[in-house]
Amino acid sequence: MSGGAVSVSDGELVAAAKAARALAYAPYSGFRVGAALLTEDGVVIPAGNVENASYGLTICAERAAVFAAVASGQRRFLAIAVATDRADPVTPCGACRQVLREFPDGPDLRVLCAGDVPGAGGSPGPVLTLTLDQLLPRSFGPEQLRPEPEGEGQSP
Ligand code: THU
Repeated sequence: MSGGAVSVSDGELVAAAKAARALAYAPYSGFRVGAALLTEDGVVIPAGNVENASYGLTICAERAAVFAAVASGQRRFLAIAVATDRADPVTPCGACRQVLREFPDGPDLRVLCAGDVPGAGGSPGPVLTLTLDQLLPRSFGPEQLRPEPEGEGQSP
């Protein structure tokens, strides 16, 4: 972990994301995704992707984790880990990047993308660590909806 009082390590967060794959409801794609979202208070919120017979209503694991967190009163996040069954790390989809961007310090959120090494026992596998700003540069966010200071913006 990068400093601060939170005692959840990157390795623990990745392990939580891997375990969260078991929560996935993915009968249509068979593509299980697990996410583990770390709050500023050191709480880890796990979620899996949830598919639907009306395919477009599917929700990714990352957004499921964010919505579960916000619905339980948490809005400040330090990191999210994402895991699939693939060997190479998978990065969050565009919609999830935008949702992750929303909350305080969104661009600074650390995103740990974990690959899996089939049959590698205790091996942690590869982890690609990025910031949300790297995944979604020059992003649109809540600041852009705030009133502009006097004298800025459109002239009459
Ligand atoms: N999925 C996620 O949960 N997260 C991602 O970052 C990419 C895609 C899910 C959505 C769907 O249930 C399945 O993976 C295939 O797209």
